Amino acid sequence: MSNCRRTAAEMVSPGRGILAADESIKTMSSRLEKVGIAPTADARRAYREMLVTTPGIAEGISGIIFCDETLNQQLSDGRPFAQATREAGMLPGVKVDTGAKPLAGRPGETITEGLDGLSARLAGYAAQGAAFAKWRAVLRITDDLPSTTAIRANAHALARYAAACQEAGLVPIVEPEVLMDGDHTLRRCAEVTARVHAAVMAELAAFGVDMAGVVLKPNMVVEGADHPHRATPEEVAEATVDVLRALPGDLAGVAFLSGGQDPARATANLAAIQLHHTPWPLTFSFGRALVDPALTAWAASGRSTVAGQEALADRVAANSAAVRTRELQ
Ligand code: 13P
Repeated sequence: MSNCRRTAAEMVSPGRGILAADESIKTMSSRLEKVGIAPTADARRAYREMLVTTPGIAEGISGIIFCDETLNQQLSDGRPFAQATREAGMLPGVKVDTGAKPLAGRPGETITEGLDGLSARLAGYAAQGAAFAKWRAVLRITDDLPSTTAIRANAHALARYAAACQEAGLVPIVEPEVLMDGDHTLRRCAEVTARVHAAVMAELAAFGVDMAGVVLKPNMVVEGADHPHRATPEEVAEATVDVLRALPGDLAGVAFLSGGQDPARATANLAAIQLHHTPWPLTFSFGRALVDPALTAWAASGRSTVAGQEALADRVAANSAAVRTRELQ
């Protein structure tokens, strides 16, 4: 088995998910400011140290995604984050895209950038101990978006990234996110997500990407945040798995983003999804739905490590329990 296949299998191993702690400097700074903490490099570092050192976290977390800044920082004891993550029993990963930028010629749509010089950067991250990488494409639903052009451009970039990762020995997390923003129906989210996945899979195949060394990080199929009717976990699960059925059987696994769902809803949907039989494991790679309660508790307690870690451990345990229900079927 290739290294990428082994790593990917570990990332989606039973009962475990991936923690997304890779907010950009800008996003993390604004989240810190919102909870009353000055957004310094050391505050971002201390917050990530609190997350990584949560006792027992590796029981429910297989890997943590960091941003470039964190990968170059150290814990208070001097260990680099990649080393500390491995010593805690998890795999370190890194976000390698440079963000979603306006897509010229397609007003209102974005293209995720970061391909220039990517192979050299990936080699550097591998040397620093990273085991996997992440790239997020963003598609927005309106009455006439996303366009086929934006879907195709983002799928192409994801596939070039994924192929470069596997050449560097890193597992690509392929994240085509269809946003919850808007008042669209669940059915419309399903249609768009299916179109996006079809384009991404076609491009991955064109670039010869080994699906057994890929973790797909999709959105769940949910109605828009402003839609008046809230779908049940059973409805979300059925619509989500229906769309995923088109994916190749040799894909290593699926790890959902939370996308702005509140933490309890994301967990309930994840649990309902487990009741469907699929050829690949279906787990979580949540950001906000895992860390928001921890950040709030950490800040509210005057940066108490224990308070932050207890809040994180609760969310990890709930989501790990949700994915463990599969084993009990
Ligand atoms: P959310 O779960 O907060 O959507 O974040 C996941 C992620 O990694 C976004 O790129």
